[in-house]
Amino acid sequence: MSLNPYVASDFIQSRAPGFNPRVGIVLGSGLGGLADEIDAVASIPFAEIPDFPQSTVEGHEGRLILGRLGGMPVICMQGRIHLYEGGDPQDLAVPVRAMKLLGVEILLVTNAAGSFHEEVGPGRLMLISDHINFTGKNPLAGENDERFGPRFFSMEEAYDPTLRAHIKAVAKELDIELSEGVYLHYLGPNFETPAEINAFRILGADAVGMSTTPEVLAARHAGMRVVAISNITNLVAGLSKTKLSHEQTLECAKLAAGDLEKLVVIFLETLKRELLKAHITEKSNGDD
Ligand code: HPA
Repeated sequence: MSLNPYVASDFIQSRAPGFNPRVGIVLGSGLGGLADEIDAVASIPFAEIPDFPQSTVEGHEGRLILGRLGGMPVICMQGRIHLYEGGDPQDLAVPVRAMKLLGVEILLVTNAAGSFHEEVGPGRLMLISDHINFTGKNPLAGENDERFGPRFFSMEEAYDPTLRAHIKAVAKELDIELSEGVYLHYLGPNFETPAEINAFRILGADAVGMSTTPEVLAARHAGMRVVAISNITNLVAGLSKTKLSHEQTLECAKLAAGDLEKLVVIFLETLKRELLKAHITEKSNGDD
């Protein structure tokens, strides 16, 4: 029997009565610090939430935090579940669907990733423009749940062009270097071989990591807008001078964590103002 996002969302709502998050955030390896910035209404260990998948990876705290960040009501996953953990891929749609049921319209996803470009090394951030799902797995395979979205749906402009332009403008304002490129999801749990990296470069990858596409697929299926950022922790295998390891990922994730935190907080602040403006315009147009 698969996990039920309705059960999970009812439980989450019961822990934060009357709180309506508009932005969902998924924090990747070593990026948990952003969670501490949230003016929290509730903090719930994944383990307490019924019908919620459980993460087993070190460095992934496994808590859900509801509160305000940059003034925006958010729900934040500190830690996530990965396909390489071996569970049912469908389980990875559950947290995103629970967020949707709680009212989330925009999903902001972060991850740690290796970069194919020497000039975009550890400590840099990359805005994801598109992805290649190289895992052969999909959380939406199986019976379609029509309550969330249609069987077949487009993945063109999956990474929202307007939100991307917006976050790039914020980065510029904050003097934070933000490159943009294609993220390739490699199943893992091992890091890639140099031969695989050569193949992925030819395929068009700018960064590689072991997460993100399941959440993005579930979010787009459910009609949510998506923005995603890779925290570059290393150059890819073959280019990297140091041996890749999870410890190295966690250590180097700290390099750009401060920039990422600033970028996200100011992005949310400006987004809140714009959503408010749009709401007022809608109201004055009489189509509320
Ligand atoms: N490959 C896959 N996943 C990663 C990497 C990498 O080089 N760096 C951080 N996560």
